[in-house]
Amino acid sequence: MVQKSNINTPVIDAVSEIKNRLDIVDVISEHIALKKSGRNYWGCCPFHKEKTPSFSVSPDKGIFKCFGCGVGGDAISFLMKINNNTFYEVIVEQAQKFGIPIQTQNFSPEKTEIKNQILEVNQEAVRFFNKLLLDVPEAAKARDYLFKRNITEEVIEKFKIGYSLNSYDSLISHFCNCHPERSEGSVQTGINAYTPNGTDSSAMPQNDKLDLLYKAGLVSERTNGKGYLDRFRGRIMIPIQDEKGDFIAFGARALEDNQNPKYLNSPDTPVFNKSRSLFALYQAKQSIKEQDSVIIMEGFFDVISAHTHGLTNVVATLGTALTEQHIKILARYSDSRRIYLAFDSDEAGINATDRGAEIIKSVFSGLGDIKQFDENFAEMSDKNNRAVCEIRVISNITGKDPDEFIRTEGLDAYKKVVNQAPLLIDYQINRIMKSKEKTQTPQEKSKVIQDLIPILSDIKNSIIRNEYIKLISEKLMIDEESLNIEIKKSLQKVIKKEKILNQGKRQNLEENHISAQKNLLSLYFLNSEKLSPLCINNYLEEVNFTEENISLIKNEISKSLKEITDPEKLSNELFTKLAENEEAKKILVDVICLVDEKKGMNTSSLEQYIKDHIAFLRRCVLSEQQNKLKTQYYASNKDDISSLEQQQLVKELILQSKSEV
Ligand code: UTP
Ligand code: MN
Repeated sequence: MVQKSNINTPVIDAVSEIKNRLDIVDVISEHIALKKSGRNYWGCCPFHKEKTPSFSVSPDKGIFKCFGCGVGGDAISFLMKINNNTFYEVIVEQAQKFGIPIQTQNFSPEKTEIKNQILEVNQEAVRFFNKLLLDVPEAAKARDYLFKRNITEEVIEKFKIGYSLNSYDSLISHFCNCHPERSEGSVQTGINAYTPNGTDSSAMPQNDKLDLLYKAGLVSERTNGKGYLDRFRGRIMIPIQDEKGDFIAFGARALEDNQNPKYLNSPDTPVFNKSRSLFALYQAKQSIKEQDSVIIMEGFFDVISAHTHGLTNVVATLGTALTEQHIKILARYSDSRRIYLAFDSDEAGINATDRGAEIIKSVFSGLGDIKQFDENFAEMSDKNNRAVCEIRVISNITGKDPDEFIRTEGLDAYKKVVNQAPLLIDYQINRIMKSKEKTQTPQEKSKVIQDLIPILSDIKNSIIRNEYIKLISEKLMIDEESLNIEIKKSLQKVIKKEKILNQGKRQNLEENHISAQKNLLSLYFLNSEKLSPLCINNYLEEVNFTEENISLIKNEISKSLKEITDPEKLSNELFTKLAENEEAKKILVDVICLVDEKKGMNTSSLEQYIKDHIAFLRRCVLSEQQNKLKTQYYASNKDDISSLEQQQLVKELILQSKSEV
């Protein structure tokens, strides 16, 4: 329980106060144009690109929902999403706006507090490094270097590029007005651009400050264990921003040939996680939306170069391989998920491309197919029009990295390369074919074929697949039929799996199963005198809610019912509890939307409705168990004993379900 204070309102109370004062239509109208139609308002969804409005706001229910991309929630959820804020940040901001004083210390504020302090320190460090680069004589070499790389002052300003002095403590002195633990005497201090009585007026004790700089990754511990030294020395400082534009880390390039490593990055900190951060996403996000595509490059300067020349839907990973998180973040900005991989064309780059492509596929697997042929083939399969993502590879640019290419050949030449970038599958086939062009011996040929088979058998459309087979067998001068046989073998394995996974009937059943669960939950929000939420809770006591988030919502409802029984207050409470769970909020919105259609029903038909639905859920669970067993059975080796056992089990299950229905 949050303690009451006579000065400040506890956060939980503040939340309901804020919710009372927020008008969802006003809140959303500040960001998009809404038009009233019936009881609801409609507009174009700000979270995905669309031309006809599928984003609806219901002032009665206090919720929004997009029928295009599925996003939904209450007013606070909207503010979180549109400003990319946490629940806590929204509450604090709104409380300030409405003049509601709140106790901040009870609401996981410590974490936020340290994060904010680090962001502040980083911001100041960015300013410090940038000023050094522009002003001090010691940075002449750095300025010269950037000039040689065609980096103009405008670009320096856009990316807030800076320079760290070749000194052990210039950053520390700047922040602390001190020379920490210099008792060793032997330590080389370099240039002291900042005097002990500098400008810093903050009252934080010195040790706390050093500790904060350490947590921000700006200083390192000295090897003798006594005190700290500047982490970045004599380097070009490239700030890394998050999606909101806050400075979360630095990438720092060496200026001298013998300076190692070439790039030194900030370590992971409370505000920086390499595998979730993308360089220049802040500068690129708008353009990624507009172009509906993103180009992922390898290096800082590749991206800076591209942006400088006017190609702005470009980001880079930070010296790490592409991760699932990277892709999920990017998918938010591009509807068609058109991703260009523009890694270097050396061996490391080729491997990074293959691995990256696998990561992208795994993120979208289950949602649909990836695009496997270009529009001119589209009539061959309308299914392909619904590709969930499109991977293209930019390679083959004369061995130069994008930075060098753009600087020497110009942006237009690079854009041409982008426009002609092949789909992943063509890139992979071409690469294998090219590298093995001179294959002569049967063994060599067979090796090439082995490399090609997984790629070819991944092609969903059989007409396209056969075209490739024809082409490849001609080029390799091998018998088309034997290539066909090899691929059929590999395909059979794939098809067997898919047959089991993609039975349309089953998918329907699953959908109905989920929707029945949502329908039952919606009864909690029905303002019916005879069937109060508590009464509904009794009915649903024993029901097995199989979907994770539905079951989570059900549990939260049961807990809340001890104190809250009014449906409207209940939904408010749930949105607060589930504030950080995007998926659960979507489902909650669906559930609340299902209430209307039950409003006209009388008590006895409602009771019948509940019974029917509970019986249906039971059948679904049974049938899902049965399908799982079937899948295991088909996947197993028919000759071994265990599958006989499974066969027996399947029979039993079928009998069991027949008697139930
Ligand atoms: P490259 O070595 O290919 O350098 O590193 P580059 O981008 O062409 O750099 P310039 O043009 O010589 O300045 C590619 C990326 O790998 C990461 C960096 O993110 C770099 O941009 N990297 C590289 C590191 O993190 N550490 C290193 O020591 C080297
Ligand atoms: Mn380079």
